[in-house]
Amino acid sequence: MIGNKIIVPPIKSQGIKTKLVPWIKSILPQKTGRWIEPFMGTGVVAFNTDFKEAYLSDINPHIINFYNAIKNKDITPHLVRFFLEKEGNILKNRGEEHYKFIRDRFNKYFDSLDFLFLSRAGFNGMIRFNKKGCWNIPFCKKINRFNKSYITKIVNQVSRVSNRITSNWIFECTDFREIIKKASKNDIIYCDPPYHGRYVDYYNGWSDDDENDLFELLSITKAKFILSAWHHNNYRSNSMIEKYWNIFNIITKEHYYHSGGRIENRNSIVEALVYNFELNFSKPVEKSLFLGVGSMSKISL
Ligand SMILES: C[S@@+](CC[C@H](N)C(=O)[O-])C[C@H]1O[C@@H](n2cnc3c(N)ncnc32)[C@H](O)[C@@H]1O
Repeated sequence: MIGNKIIVPPIKSQGIKTKLVPWIKSILPQKTGRWIEPFMGTGVVAFNTDFKEAYLSDINPHIINFYNAIKNKDITPHLVRFFLEKEGNILKNRGEEHYKFIRDRFNKYFDSLDFLFLSRAGFNGMIRFNKKGCWNIPFCKKINRFNKSYITKIVNQVSRVSNRITSNWIFECTDFREIIKKASKNDIIYCDPPYHGRYVDYYNGWSDDDENDLFELLSITKAKFILSAWHHNNYRSNSMIEKYWNIFNIITKEHYYHSGGRIENRNSIVEALVYNFELNFSKPVEKSLFLGVGSMSKISL
């Protein structure tokens, strides 16, 4: 965060936690070690902490390649402007045909700038890969997508995250099991796995075994952890809370996910933060409902 302003990353995704960052930050314990994030996604949570050392990982290699390219200065704000102006002009002339051209080029060479282009010109800022690991999101249908102000916005986002990334930030494409094992006592692990029982793509499958392994690893870690999970919506509860996570501390908060711009497309869900440490009550915790251990059946919001 810069002052009270959230650093918004240049990559978009449907599960992005931008709106929940202040809530997550409000329960962070005193920082002593590294920030470890095994399901980094867009990286929005990490970019808004002030840890000097970070170990960020994801099973999606395109995310990791993109941030390593920023870290190594292979991608700079200047280069992003040049690239988006060039490709954006062609998009304006050729429309969807050019989106498909970049999509096919990306699916062949997996270039990080093409990944950025697709993330910002794809439908609804979603990331989805098919069974062959190829980009699988349709065009947003806006041929003037990369107008001057939109490019400037993206360039500024690249600039802010590159200012945040230091040589002590590691980006690695690895399964969460390997990362959590490496955490030590002073580290803080933040986990935001694909939600059990919700959307699935090539990099976002989440099985009962995955949930079980995550539970086993977080149960024995010496580090402090925070886990994001969905708790319940109007129709059902997340059975994994009762099965596994109820033995830890839990706070919840109502949240709206947008699918499309229309107000009626806002889906309300109650989000949970599961954590294994005592809260520091001298810090204001953003409006939340505190649930005691084993209290799944007593929730009312
Ligand atoms: C809900 S998203 C994380 C969103 C992120 N917190 C944000 O705000 O952008 C879950 C991420 O977990 C990654 N993932 C899925 N399975 C994984 C695994 N076995 N190990 C590591 N990462 C995994 C996905 O690629 C995806 O980026």
